[in-house]
Amino acid sequence: MPNSTIDAIFARRSVRAYTAQKVDDETIDLLAKTALAAPSGNNFQPVNVIVVQNSALIREAEEAITAYFVKKGETALVDRLKSRNNKIFYDAPVSFFLAVKDNSHTDAGIAAENITIAAASLGLGSIILGLPGVIFSDPETAAYWKAKLGFPAGYEYGLAVAAGYTADTGKPHDIDPKKISYIG
Ligand SMILES: Cc1cc2nc3c(=O)[nH]c(=O)nc-3n(C[C@H](O)[C@H](O)[C@H](O)COP(=O)(O)O)c2cc1C
Repeated sequence: MPNSTIDAIFARRSVRAYTAQKVDDETIDLLAKTALAAPSGNNFQPVNVIVVQNSALIREAEEAITAYFVKKGETALVDRLKSRNNKIFYDAPVSFFLAVKDNSHTDAGIAAENITIAAASLGLGSIILGLPGVIFSDPETAAYWKAKLGFPAGYEYGLAVAAGYTADTGKPHDIDPKKISYIG
């Protein structure tokens, strides 16, 4: 049963290397709107999308995120980040920050997934990013980063999705059909 939505869901994977090619404005706008089209509890629509293409700003965030984990003594994670040259956003040309109000982190996850599936369907790579959240919650840095990204008052970091043209090879993770039970 050929179906392009199902194809995109099974083709999606987390991409951790991107080409330098920009994503055009129309596509970026479309991807941002897919987040807003996501369902939300009580239709509260608690997600705001902040689009960042400024590589210097992303680099500054990566340094702050790395500094946070160094400060916390998370050596295994710090080593893993170092092996990735501290590229927490993987040089993706565009990142969508999902700011949420009312602790609506489930809604942020659903909105993020809309972006990733839409990106896959358009032939783009993407990755959902939870790690950047630390600089928006650490009392030492939260106010600075929320202001820097223009979070509306009362909004917190939900997730980010980085996207662009894929520069690595890989395949979607295996799924385990044994995790499905039929009890009816
Ligand atoms: C909520 C959430 C947060 C994630 N945060 C990160 C992250 O900060 N950095 C990262 O490299 N991958 C992150 N990932 C990607 C996962 O590592 C990835 O989805 C998982 O390894 C499965 O691989 P796949 O996406 O290719 O199927 C995140 C995924 C989710 C769903």
